[in-house]
Amino acid sequence: MIIALDGPAASGKGTLAKRLAKHFGFAHLDTGKLYRAVGLAVLRAGEDPEDADAAERAATALTPSGLDNPALAGDDAAVAASKVAAIPAVRDALLSFQRRFAESPPDEAAGAVIDGRDIGTVVCPGAPAKLFVTASLEIRAERRHKELLGRGETSIYARVLQDLTERDERDSNRAVSPLLAADDAKVLDTSTLDPDAAFAAALAYVEKRLKDASNR
Ligand code: C5P
Repeated sequence: MIIALDGPAASGKGTLAKRLAKHFGFAHLDTGKLYRAVGLAVLRAGEDPEDADAAERAATALTPSGLDNPALAGDDAAVAASKVAAIPAVRDALLSFQRRFAESPPDEAAGAVIDGRDIGTVVCPGAPAKLFVTASLEIRAERRHKELLGRGETSIYARVLQDLTERDERDSNRAVSPLLAADDAKVLDTSTLDPDAAFAAALAYVEKRLKDASNR
């Protein structure tokens, strides 16, 4: 059983994914971390995240231990991630890891919740439950800004808004696997929903979809 969650940065999909995984006892994969780890590795090697050869090298060398780094949560990693994510060879290198996770979730979990940008469209197009989680740009920037301040980091709202605008633009307009709701995804706009209300709406949809799938 796969639950696919896609959507732009700071839409609330990560929080929802964790809660859904806990609720169903499923494994959770945040695929943004894979791209962030590749972006960060390229930066740390002193190379340019838009350099296709450097990014492909970093993607093929990625190991699960590279996903535990707290620096992955930072904005430098996010910006570099959205650059390496536009490179087809990087996406190819990360696809098999994601599909393996979907096919055999760790710890013998009965299913997986996978969140990202292209899970419902490319990674797991056959997933029985697909959510496209979104919110207005300003609300997402506000959330991200508060999250950074809450972690004790310095943050300037205008800069966060600018970064998200550029990241949305790159993610939506790239030639390979652009950020897009699958035709059969339920769009959940969390702009006016608090986390509990967003979870309740997502859960009602997912429960119905998983029930329909197991009756088939
Ligand atoms: O979700 P998160 O903000 O951590 O993702 C960082 C970047 O990684 C995104 O802006 C996007 O460019 C890229 N990404 C992607 N496909 C995914 C997950 C993330 O292109 N499935």
